[in-house]
Amino acid sequence: METNRRDFIKKGTIAGLGLSGLLLSKDLSAQNLSKIRPMAKSASALIRLGFIGTGSRGCSHLNESIKTGLVDIVAICDINPASIDNAKTIISRNGKKEPKIYSGNEFAFKNMLKDEKLDAVIIATPWEWHVRMAVASMKAGVPYTAVEVSAANTLEECWDLVNVHEETGMQLMILENVCYRRDVMAVLNMVRTNIFGELIHCRCGYEHDLRGVKFNDGEHYSYTNGGDLKMGKKAFSEAQWRGLHAIKRNGDLYPTHGIGPVSNWLDINRGNRFLTLSAMASKSRGLHKFIIDNGGAKHPYADINFNLGDIVTSMIKCANGETIIVTHDTNLPRPYSLGFRVEGTNGLWYNDGDHIYVEGKSKVPDEWDDSAGWITQYDHQYWREKGKEAAGGGHGGMDFIMLIDFFDAVKNKKQVPFDAYDAATWSAISALSEMSIARGGALVDFPDFTRGKWIKQQPWFGIDAAYPIDANRRLINNIF
Ligand SMILES: NC(=O)c1ccc[n+]([C@@H]2O[C@H](COP(=O)([O-])OP(=O)(O)OC[C@H]3O[C@@H](n4cnc5c(N)ncnc54)[C@H](O)[C@@H]3O)[C@@H](O)[C@H]2O)c1
Repeated sequence: METNRRDFIKKGTIAGLGLSGLLLSKDLSAQNLSKIRPMAKSASALIRLGFIGTGSRGCSHLNESIKTGLVDIVAICDINPASIDNAKTIISRNGKKEPKIYSGNEFAFKNMLKDEKLDAVIIATPWEWHVRMAVASMKAGVPYTAVEVSAANTLEECWDLVNVHEETGMQLMILENVCYRRDVMAVLNMVRTNIFGELIHCRCGYEHDLRGVKFNDGEHYSYTNGGDLKMGKKAFSEAQWRGLHAIKRNGDLYPTHGIGPVSNWLDINRGNRFLTLSAMASKSRGLHKFIIDNGGAKHPYADINFNLGDIVTSMIKCANGETIIVTHDTNLPRPYSLGFRVEGTNGLWYNDGDHIYVEGKSKVPDEWDDSAGWITQYDHQYWREKGKEAAGGGHGGMDFIMLIDFFDAVKNKKQVPFDAYDAATWSAISALSEMSIARGGALVDFPDFTRGKWIKQQPWFGIDAAYPIDANRRLINNIF
């Protein structure tokens, strides 16, 4: 018998973890959760959690997971003894028992997935490992797999996530933490209550100077204090692997921090979808210049040709008529921004400079309001309820809020907030932008990873009791 999320709610199986807004969503997507086995029996009723990858990001998740008080970390896997040691230190510092260690070869994670009866797995490894590991986890019958961003590199990998999720019935969540950023969630409330009117256009991007992340001195996470410039095997953390993508690929390599929130605002895969994409890349200068400036013209990397254009711009057209501009800008000196803009028939929010303008409501016609007051007014339920606990955590607390939401799904056998279809749709921008750029900006079709389900599905992420979705936004779905 097919069981759906609504049935779970009717049967009252959701014991809220505090994110009670989820209970109030009326029209929820029907997904088959019948193959998800109940959580492994444990006296403490804690989630039996495993980690694949305990580098920089994995250890951050480890720390935050312990802070939630909802998990028992039973096993960790990494190929690097230093990463394992860091994880062990965090676990013992928090007074928790040492987990079982899986290491020794690149496929040790398969033994962990086979031998441990895990309720959930968090994957925080280099991009090229995400899909192999997520697929193995779902196939091993782990009910809930969470994978870091971007989830997939190629269209084939995107389809693998969807196909294996459908074949196995196991849940897959993309860990897109920016969807939980406080201002981003407040703007979601504003969008859903029609403050901006009907949405017309959004902008977003990953505008982050990563030159000091793509290279380092082999010991520190970032290249800030000089030293010998390294990438690849001799480097440390992301500099071991991220630069190779900049050498081999030319596209938006990291689209999900921007497109995740935009997808929530535009109801992507929930009554709307991406139709087409066209992308262009600028010339590539930033990484070469960084090598020359810091290592000199005779540095062994001086002759490397980087394929990745310094600024990659993708334009997306949606089924409901909106357009989106997504920017990838990681090789040039600049302050950090995700460059959000949400624009509708009544006004717009502009992340850079914290501007907002709403016709008839802003203080002075045709002049920006500071958005701070608006963001506070529409503060999301998750932050109202968990903001204090989240404070001081990773990325301003949004990592903690995200993990609480993931663990809520695991504990209560619910559909994950961002599923295999979202993981595929958001990550596909990388492969599609590469294709479009290779063809001189040609328009490429967006696959419909939902196989048509997008047309009927309704939003289920972060429904806030105090800010129910405006009836006008649901008009079509109310008719059908
Ligand atoms: N959402 C965010 O804000 C955010 C922030 C940082 C990183 N990330 C993402 O997290 C992921 C990991 O990034 P990171 O900064 O931790 O990188 P990292 O290089 O510091 O860590 C990766 C870890 O994976 C391990 N690993 C590699 N291959 C493995 C294998 N076959 N089996 C087991 N372990 C293996 C490495 O030894 C290393 O410890 C990336 O996808 C990155 O994009 C996301």
